[in-house]
Amino acid sequence: MIIAERKERQVSILEAAENNQEFLRSIFMGCSNGTGHSKLQKYIEQVLFETPSFLKHHVGFGKGSVKELSGKFTNTLIRRQSEKNSNEVIIDLINNIVPYAVNVASPYFVGHMTSAIPPFMIQLKAIAAALNQNVVKLETSGVVSLVEKQVLAKIHRLIYRRTQDFYDHHVQNQDTTLGCFTEGGTVANITALWAARDALLAPRDGFGGVEKEGVEAGYRAYGIDRCIVLVSRLGHYSLRKAGGILGIGSENIIPVEVDENSRINIHSLAKKIEEIKSESSRNRLLAIVGIGGTTETGTIDPLKEMGEICAENGVHFHVDAAWGGPALLSEKYSYLLEGIDLADSVTIDGHKQFYMPMSSGMVYFKDPYIMNNVSYRANYIIRDGSGDLGIRSASGSREANSLILHSALRIMGARGYGLLVEHGIETARQLAEEIMRRPDFHLVTPPELNILTYQIYPEHYGRILEDSPDKEEIIYQNINEINRTIQRQQRECGIGFVSRTVLVNKNAPYREKVVLRIVIANPMTNMDILKEVIDEQEQIYKSILPGYELNL
Ligand SMILES: Cc1ncc(COP(=O)(O)O)c(C=O)c1O
Repeated sequence: MIIAERKERQVSILEAAENNQEFLRSIFMGCSNGTGHSKLQKYIEQVLFETPSFLKHHVGFGKGSVKELSGKFTNTLIRRQSEKNSNEVIIDLINNIVPYAVNVASPYFVGHMTSAIPPFMIQLKAIAAALNQNVVKLETSGVVSLVEKQVLAKIHRLIYRRTQDFYDHHVQNQDTTLGCFTEGGTVANITALWAARDALLAPRDGFGGVEKEGVEAGYRAYGIDRCIVLVSRLGHYSLRKAGGILGIGSENIIPVEVDENSRINIHSLAKKIEEIKSESSRNRLLAIVGIGGTTETGTIDPLKEMGEICAENGVHFHVDAAWGGPALLSEKYSYLLEGIDLADSVTIDGHKQFYMPMSSGMVYFKDPYIMNNVSYRANYIIRDGSGDLGIRSASGSREANSLILHSALRIMGARGYGLLVEHGIETARQLAEEIMRRPDFHLVTPPELNILTYQIYPEHYGRILEDSPDKEEIIYQNINEINRTIQRQQRECGIGFVSRTVLVNKNAPYREKVVLRIVIANPMTNMDILKEVIDEQEQIYKSILPGYELNL
């Protein structure tokens, strides 16, 4: 009896093991004859080969605010048993979650730096995911690490235009770093300032370098109390994150005033440098950052003048061209980035104007040896002399984004990317003209690249201000509130989406201006669409204006 029971139990354990094995096999080999397979196959074909149509028909139709939706996502238990096969779960995702995602590919979605990407990017992303290469080390990436070095050298050459001999020497050199792929512009900026910090507080006379001994020891060794980074007040907040992470202190990332064109004011910069020096001989300028396309206004700092100031003062010059870097590929507009080659380091985002899928950033270095201060090795991987890319980069395991950029450059050619840049800039200029034509619209920052900001500014408010200057404060508050409301109402129920931000002008009577912001980063966005978007804003404005007249 006991023996029979034991045998029965053994059989059921074996059966269970076989079932488990079968389950794992089906998971890893794919469920090609499971329920839902043919339906999913159609969806995947659409995603890969008819992306615009897939997005148009599936994304952004779900109704409900994020607050309402959050109620659907509160269960925190993981079920013990598989709920459905992978085909069915992916179909569920397409039916139940995708409709609530934001259709950033819509040509009416003109508010952010995230927009449509070409379908070939998605095909490449799928291949990169299938290959699952890990570029941290050659043993898990092989040729992909070589492609990465090559593509980094191509963009380095675009920025710095060094000699053929220079690139022949460095393109596959295992001991030098022309640049690194990162998760985005934030990590690229952090890496650039990391390199700058380690170069400033390098090993010397019994000091092993800041990388080994830390900031406090570094400051002691160099007789420093404070390291400072200067950047225009429109600098991206990732630089402050870098200040925190690198131990310099986010408060030592100091904003410099901008001029009426939203570019760093060179006189204010020079004055700030003098102030820092005269305040204490123990202050040290770690870096000055020029912006190649600010996040809020798309304007470009005077990079050449800034580069010269950095050279005179022996300061690391970083250019944050996360947004504008690809303008270098436009024969017509590359001049806007004149002086970028003076930078010691440059940030460029792949997922912005290289139109790569999320997420991909890059940082480039003028000195191919600068990252040697931050090289790390481990015995099981990234061994000495291995050429593993993880030795000198902030990231560890990393996907093969270089495969995507490598192919994208071949598909688009410099000219293709140039056309995208030109479309953005020229459409933004036409839109600026349209805004200036409308009496109740006021252009705040004209486009230098493909971003502009404006306000809806009731024409008669100008007259009220002339007659009753005491109403100035209420007028400015009204304008800010009107613009805030228009943006919110359009986002919630309109056809278009623009973003809003607050621009600060220290010299204006009311320092904070709420502005609407349009980013043109989709070649399908044209003037007809943009007119519809601002017509809609005008309608909202007319419907809400009476409510704001009561307090005047
Ligand atoms: C100028 C600039 N720098 C850095 C960043 C940060 O990039 P990411 O969001 O890719 O980390 C951005 C993002 O918008 C940016 O506009």
